[in-house]
Amino acid sequence: MIAIGCDHGGFELKTIIIEYLKENGYDYTDCGTYDENSIDYPDIAKVVCSKVTDGICDKGILICGTGIGMNMCANKHAGIRAAQCHDTFSAKMTRQHNDANVLTMGGRVIGCELAKDIVKEFLTNDFLGGRHEVRVNKMMSLEN
Ligand code: RB5
Repeated sequence: MIAIGCDHGGFELKTIIIEYLKENGYDYTDCGTYDENSIDYPDIAKVVCSKVTDGICDKGILICGTGIGMNMCANKHAGIRAAQCHDTFSAKMTRQHNDANVLTMGGRVIGCELAKDIVKEFLTNDFLGGRHEVRVNKMMSLEN
């Protein structure tokens, strides 16, 4: 299950990404926002990240105007490894090497076709483990 959320700056792109998830058979839960009225991105980041850290969802997607605010908020949550990706190579690598569990993107930064390709890489690549697991464990120990 994928948790997806946005603020007003990411609403248009979130709608497109939800269509992509539907077309490709992914289960998702839409954590809002549900229109283009102004809303504070930390509130939505909290809802999406809680679903991931509670184990209800295995991955999250957060979209705001730049993706940056969502990324900063997401990475404040223990257990979240959020990656800002505006290219497909990073989306693949952050799954394989960083075991990222949240993807952030800027709806005012990238086009919808590139965003769909980024989501595809993020959702279809697995963590490679091994030496990367050692590094991810060290990363997570920085939370303490
Ligand atoms: C909202 O105007 C904008 O600040 C927000 O979508 C995001 O870009 C913040 O990082």
